[in-house]
Amino acid sequence: MGNVVNYKVDGRVAVLAIENPPVNALSHAVREGVVTQMERGVADDGVDAIVLIGVGRTFPAGADIREFDQPAREPHLVAVIDRLDDIKKPIIAAIHGTALGGGLELALGCNFRVAVPDARMGMPEVNLGIFPGAAGTQRLPRVAGLDHALELIVLGKPVSAAKALEYGILDEIIEGDLQAGAVAFAESVVSAGVPYPISSKPRDGIGPPGEHAETIDKYRDLANSRFRGQESPHQAIESVVDGLRMPYAAAVAADRLRFESCKASRQSAALRYAFFAERETAKIHDIGKEVTSRPIDSAGVIGAGTMGRGIAISMADVGLPVTVVETGQDALDAGMAELTRLYEAMVSRGRIDEATKDERLSRITGAVSYDALSDADLVIEAAFEDLDVKKEIFGALEVVAKAGAVLATNTSYMDIDAIAATTSRPEDIIGLHYFAPANVMRMLEVVRPAKASPDAITTGMKFAKRTGKVGVLAGVCHGFVANRSRLPLVREATFLVEEGASPVQVDKVLTDLGMPMGPLAVSDLSGLDVSWRMRQSLASERDPEARYMHLADRMCELGRFGIKAGQGWYDYEVGGRHPRPDAEVEAIAAAVAREQGIVRRDISEDEIRARCLYAAINEGAKILDEGIAARASDIDVMWLYGFGFPRWRGGIMFMADEIGLGKILEQVRAFEEVHGKLWAPSSLLERLVAEGGGFTR
Ligand code: 3HC
Repeated sequence: MGNVVNYKVDGRVAVLAIENPPVNALSHAVREGVVTQMERGVADDGVDAIVLIGVGRTFPAGADIREFDQPAREPHLVAVIDRLDDIKKPIIAAIHGTALGGGLELALGCNFRVAVPDARMGMPEVNLGIFPGAAGTQRLPRVAGLDHALELIVLGKPVSAAKALEYGILDEIIEGDLQAGAVAFAESVVSAGVPYPISSKPRDGIGPPGEHAETIDKYRDLANSRFRGQESPHQAIESVVDGLRMPYAAAVAADRLRFESCKASRQSAALRYAFFAERETAKIHDIGKEVTSRPIDSAGVIGAGTMGRGIAISMADVGLPVTVVETGQDALDAGMAELTRLYEAMVSRGRIDEATKDERLSRITGAVSYDALSDADLVIEAAFEDLDVKKEIFGALEVVAKAGAVLATNTSYMDIDAIAATTSRPEDIIGLHYFAPANVMRMLEVVRPAKASPDAITTGMKFAKRTGKVGVLAGVCHGFVANRSRLPLVREATFLVEEGASPVQVDKVLTDLGMPMGPLAVSDLSGLDVSWRMRQSLASERDPEARYMHLADRMCELGRFGIKAGQGWYDYEVGGRHPRPDAEVEAIAAAVAREQGIVRRDISEDEIRARCLYAAINEGAKILDEGIAARASDIDVMWLYGFGFPRWRGGIMFMADEIGLGKILEQVRAFEEVHGKLWAPSSLLERLVAEGGGFTR
């Protein structure tokens, strides 16, 4: 305990330094350490004030989330913080790094808070399915005012030190050495001899809820729009509202019960799982820490189409110079003009200013020859999905690209091993599979061909992080991990329409699960022709015994490519994007069903849910079994970031464990009986059911 919270005295100021790497989480040992060392400071006659600081990279970044699955142990954080109110010596929180959640609550329990300019402060608990449970919902409104407090507590986004100063959360920003600055601040407080603020005490201007109805409603609306289906932001608001109508101690007591019930909720379990799942993705079991990544100081993109432009923007946005290569001047000019238009749209939406736009655009250079890529450290090919085209590009690249450059393809389903095999430098070739729009979506699938060198893979993963993406490793197979596991869901969605369900009915079941859009509306958005072309390119590999997506083909044959054609699974107004039910689709589906000998019927929501979800889960299990994904949680992270699957459900594999693998296997077998071999159960699923195991636990 002694070395979890260190005690030393500087002049007449005690400095309590929390040392619990990596993020100084407020574990049981830290809470005990803070109490013990605080009492030491109180008892020390040579001490007039106490500074609380973090050792290493940060002030405490919150409660220790790993302890949440265990019974809570005393001293509870709220009791530690409440004890500070009774200490007669001023306590100063000295903040660097990220004071988050319980860390910020601890700081709010101190009489004063100072921070370095690049510190960040926030209450991200809602993202874990809970809310600030150590009196943050009571103290922050008293310190920062209701609106600012709700902003931090409900939206869960940290603010900068400058903003925190403006909101009254900080008393001073310290330039230079934080500890020395905090000690000097403590000395000045002592010599001023004025009473110290205590944040649990009532504050002028915060009246009963009725006086703040507008502000409270604003955050209820924001909670609904930004966290659809998620309960924690609403619990957070209720906790703050309790504080407006109850005295501090009563509100804290009410919080205790509410917090425990949130912590025990399925949503919180899923959100905590997602938190750790995301961090696991960085760990590659057979690539050690000694493998360093290759430096990336400049990059190239082949293709100025939709994907190529998005990729170029994602790099220019983080300061990387990028050369975009097109086959001809006209295509290049069109691509560059569209790039400029995209940046201008960001300015008009207020996302960036004019100067930032100019700076970022200046990092993007256009060229019509591969020679312009000779200096690039990383080249990403984002050309047409055609294996021969790609092989040709990589053939040219291997000659032009400098030694050590990483050569990546953005293909979403092609055999990268085959592409690598045509070059003399397969060790440099990887897949970097972006999701559209590439500058917005945070998912980046890093695909590992058999011959890629470990440092090329590490480079891909590090590059993902640098460009603000969540990089997840995948092996080579058709569609890799993300698209391969989603395809069966889309397949079943179209089969269900063939069998009698309407597109609205199918999509609604999936949006009711929490997905932002139904699969058929998504197909309309991305274009039905994309997967049609893919099916055509795979025609020779088609299994004649397996059911085939005839209806989806027919839609394309009729030119119903989706939004861009004004018609797809839905109908659209000219230039519009709002899907409207279309009786024509029903007629087409009925005709295709007749041809295929399918008798159409009423289909229940339960069947739609099971068909779509279990098809994806069964495929996920196969992907896992083949070693294409390293962990079930990697598949889940791809669904969260690639497909907008609701985070509070954890992901499809996490959900599978919740539903029960036995139940899923039974249903998969039943579907196999009726719908044939596409439903063959994964042997991993069968093994896990036999052994009583789970995908994620
Ligand atoms: N508890 C336990 N472990 C934590 C943790 C926490 N609060 N925060 C981070 N970690 C772990 C991570 O799992 C990771 O472990 P690993 O190396 O074994 O994978 C390690 O610390 C480093 O974390 P990151 O990889 O995320 O490091 P970054 O530098 O990218 O980010 C961070 C640092 C911004 C602090 C980020 O970790 C973060 O956002 N942490 C969570 C903050 C949070 O949610 N705090 C609230 C907790 S709940 C709470 O306080 C309840 C209270 O109200 C009672």
